[in-house]
Amino acid sequence: MANKTFYITTPIYYTSGNLHIGNAYTTIVCDSIARYKKMLGYDVYFLTGTDEHGEKVQKKAEQEGKTPQQFVDDLVIGIKDLWKRLNIDYDKFIRTTDDYHEESVSKIFSYLLKKGDIYKGEYKGWYCTPCEAFWTESQLKEGHLCPDCGRPVHEAKEEAYFFKMSKYAEKLVQYYDNNPEFIEPESRKNEMINTFIKPGLEDLCVSRTSFDWGIKVKEDPKHVIYVWIDALSNYITALGYNTNDTKLFDKFWHNDEDHEILHVVGKEIMRFHVIYWPIILLALGLPLPTKVFGHGWIVMKGGKMAKSVGNVVYPDTIINRYGLDALRYFSVSCIPFGQDGLFTPEIFVDNFNNDLVNNYGNLLSRTITMVEKYFSSKVPSYKGHVTKYDEQLEKDMIETKRIYEQKMDKFYVNEAIREVFNLLSKANKYIDDTEPWVLAKDESKNDELASVLNHLVLVLKESTIMLSCFLVETSYKALEQLGITNDSYSNILDFKGVDNVKVNKKDNLFPRLNPKIEIEYLNSK
Ligand code: ME8
Ligand code: MG
Repeated sequence: MANKTFYITTPIYYTSGNLHIGNAYTTIVCDSIARYKKMLGYDVYFLTGTDEHGEKVQKKAEQEGKTPQQFVDDLVIGIKDLWKRLNIDYDKFIRTTDDYHEESVSKIFSYLLKKGDIYKGEYKGWYCTPCEAFWTESQLKEGHLCPDCGRPVHEAKEEAYFFKMSKYAEKLVQYYDNNPEFIEPESRKNEMINTFIKPGLEDLCVSRTSFDWGIKVKEDPKHVIYVWIDALSNYITALGYNTNDTKLFDKFWHNDEDHEILHVVGKEIMRFHVIYWPIILLALGLPLPTKVFGHGWIVMKGGKMAKSVGNVVYPDTIINRYGLDALRYFSVSCIPFGQDGLFTPEIFVDNFNNDLVNNYGNLLSRTITMVEKYFSSKVPSYKGHVTKYDEQLEKDMIETKRIYEQKMDKFYVNEAIREVFNLLSKANKYIDDTEPWVLAKDESKNDELASVLNHLVLVLKESTIMLSCFLVETSYKALEQLGITNDSYSNILDFKGVDNVKVNKKDNLFPRLNPKIEIEYLNSK
């Protein structure tokens, strides 16, 4: 039988400036989940990309004296470079300015127009003449002023196309009811239903005439398709929907026991993904995604990290000084997935030292040093339960793998990692309990000493392989030092799997950080 398929997507990022660790966060989490699924043998397709149309891009391009196309081309080079530095192993990078995407979206729009789900109407709002911008009532500054320039606005109408959302509201709620795990975390579901669906779904404005950097409405070219139909459709156009080559679409766009579609998005765009996107799919007669996971934000002491607030940390600040895995580790383990998580230099440095340096790196280097010293670098063979602590440690190893998978399968990534680090703590405790340096002084205790080191290497192997989807650089360094070449996930609990392997001590995996110096450094950035 063919492998189960797993299609995972990040949001497509706006090309309006450089990406910060908040944007990197979503991509790192998706990359880690994709690697986990691959490790388990799924046929994975991982999509990311950029959302390049709209008025904002057009204006920014003008300010820089570039054409919009030039402007986005330049930014995309930087974004792809960043994903390379973060070791993001995506299968495809889609740009909404790609020809195949534009053509496919244009066909989607025409189809919905013909079907009557899209109709021409009037968009009413508050217009700022100098800015040539429409605002809704709630966006205005006090005194009915333009939020951009602060000048008075006037009520105005613009011809626009609308999508009949209400037509599908009932079917959508039915889908929620029949698929209780469609929206996660659970709390977001109630928020969506109460805020948007219960009061009655408003039709969505899907075109604009006030700017032209977008996909033109073929039937009425003074209109451009306004962002959400353009942007959301990327998830299917990237697979070839409405093109000559639909192989990927046919393979991955299914939602059943053997095919999973997961969209990971920040909570601020949850509404578009759990209401508008499923409705567009219903209108097109296509399967709906299996799950939309709405994660929280990385927040700074002053609130959400955002370019517009000016409190951003850029990925390179962390990577260049502490290495890629320091950033990846912080992203996947220190933000409870689904909730907001605080970035402070103190939290960053503390977690680095406690988890990566003490708990993991130190265990590795102590273990390897002892194998070198007591057994001439050759890991002793497994002999069952020799010391009185062996059996419990093996039980912990088995239990950790079970819970790790349970958490990962639900995408509770930070909890899965916590399990692995708990196992590493237990292995550290096992050293304290067995005191190998004492055993080494008594020749009659040689079997016990051998068993201790065998078990430590087994735990390190298991933990390292479980961490390999997150710590993409150091996990390979660790396996290399352990002398382990068979790193397949299916045999991480093979207790005879490290017999006689040859260890090879190298530098510590992670250098210990001096909190005072590093906190100062990060604060100065
Ligand atoms: O919304 N913490 O693009 P965008 C965590 N183009 N994640 C954060 C974050 C933070 N402080 N700030 C941003 C768009 N993000 C649309 C999406 S999809 C069809 C179209 C992440 O450039 C978060 O995942 O504003 C959010 O959803 C994404 O960046 C939005 O990036
Ligand atoms: Mg945003």
